[in-house]
Amino acid sequence: MSQLWEYAPAPESRDIANLKPAYKMFVDGEFVEGSGEPLKTINPGTEEVLAEVSTASPSDVDTAVKVARRAYDRVWGKMPGTERAKYIYRIARLIQERSRELAVLESLDNGKPIKESRDVDVPTAAAHFFYHAGWADKLSYAGYGPDPRPLGVAGQVIPWNFPLLMAAWKIAPALATGNTVVLKPAETTPLTALVLAEIIQQADLPPGVVNILPGAGDTGAALVGHADVDKVAFTGSTEVGKLIQSQLAGTGKKLTLELGGKAANIVFDDAPVDQAVEGIVNGIFFNQGHVCCAGSRLLLQESIAEEFLEKLRIRVSTLRVGDPLDKNTDVGAINSREQLTKIQELAAAGEAEGAERWTSACPLPDKGFYFAPTVFSGVSQAMRIAREEIFGPVLSVLTFRTPDEAVAKANNTPYGLSAGIWTDKGSRILWAAQKMRAGVVWANTFNRFDPTAPFGGYQESGFGREGGRAGLEAYLDV
Ligand code: NAI
Ligand code: MG
Repeated sequence: MSQLWEYAPAPESRDIANLKPAYKMFVDGEFVEGSGEPLKTINPGTEEVLAEVSTASPSDVDTAVKVARRAYDRVWGKMPGTERAKYIYRIARLIQERSRELAVLESLDNGKPIKESRDVDVPTAAAHFFYHAGWADKLSYAGYGPDPRPLGVAGQVIPWNFPLLMAAWKIAPALATGNTVVLKPAETTPLTALVLAEIIQQADLPPGVVNILPGAGDTGAALVGHADVDKVAFTGSTEVGKLIQSQLAGTGKKLTLELGGKAANIVFDDAPVDQAVEGIVNGIFFNQGHVCCAGSRLLLQESIAEEFLEKLRIRVSTLRVGDPLDKNTDVGAINSREQLTKIQELAAAGEAEGAERWTSACPLPDKGFYFAPTVFSGVSQAMRIAREEIFGPVLSVLTFRTPDEAVAKANNTPYGLSAGIWTDKGSRILWAAQKMRAGVVWANTFNRFDPTAPFGGYQESGFGREGGRAGLEAYLDV
């Protein structure tokens, strides 16, 4: 069978990552030792320690917020947009220049396949800076009045699934609108954010405009709870999002939350089958399924379900799982042992609740955190694997008979971040998209990311939009 083809390894050189034994936090334009307990970040593909990273204590957070406030008051908040734009363009260009280094470092620290960090994460991160540089001098045309003002200091906390891209996603709009930033990367993936700090230094951004503080949840809590932060932007779990929302209630701080998801990908009987199979595979196995908008619930029209599932399994069995730095790898390493345990537990719950489990027979490396691509069929809406975010390479398949039933099942979730529709009929796309309670609806495609398009959720997926003209609002006093 075709999946037994042997591939010669095609490893990207890890020397390109320019890995250093130790990394420091970035405050006021300098790299300084934090007074928190240093953390060791590992390569989830091999479990080896990559580097030691200093972390921020609450007093370091306080210092960084003060520095960001001063940079806002004295420099960045009053700088004309035409001048701010030059810095943001420079950051974008430097990301492009150092793109190979960033891609290899990202794959080492996060476990994602090099082809994804190289072709998606890093170019999209640069695109966010390019796009927002373009807005910096045009804010008076953005629809928020003739002279929309920034908010001040933004405290931003990001997750581990797209470490550099999430940093870009947060920092670029904040800078374009004239805010200064204190950002906390996730504890398992701090490295590319600290190389971004080097780039920011190289771009000669005035000291204090962007500060990057590694640390765990306690550092994040100190940052979002700091009294002198004007705006909080968080991407991560719904659980922590709820905590932050209650922590900030009544403070007057502006908040955006981008949280979990359990997206439905609906395939109607008139869908182009081969194209849909590709889209479904991309929707759930891209980035090991560590994607908030992953298409983790496949809804198949009953009349085509069996044939579709068969094709899907054949396609999934060709996915190569393994070394994130190998250019042939389709599915890399699970980001952490904790996340692997969570995925294993939820998959076991699926079996216990009576769903039919199919797991790719692909070989897995002996060391590192890996999970073979898995498809559950015969899933009912009440099962945990249909309700909870698994955040791993696990697809739950349900069926439907009528379009109304498909929409009702798609919307039967506390989340509402994204959805996919696969059909030949334009009218059905428009009909279904209007009924879908999801911030982003893709038609005959999935997981398309573009800085010009607003992204965000409904219900427990959070609120506020990032990207596009709409995304500027979160950083403006409007
Ligand atoms: P998490 O929500 O704990 O971590 C996300 C970020 O928040 C990290 O930087 C973390 O240090 C920080 N953080 C943790 N507690 C905080 C607090 N009290 N105040 C401020 N910041 C805090 O997510 P975790 O534990 O890494 O993953 C658990 C689950 O969450 C995953 O299995 C997945 O289902 C979901 N998740 C969803 C993401 C998304 O993009 N929607 C991203 C990451 C996780
Ligand atoms: Mg790591």
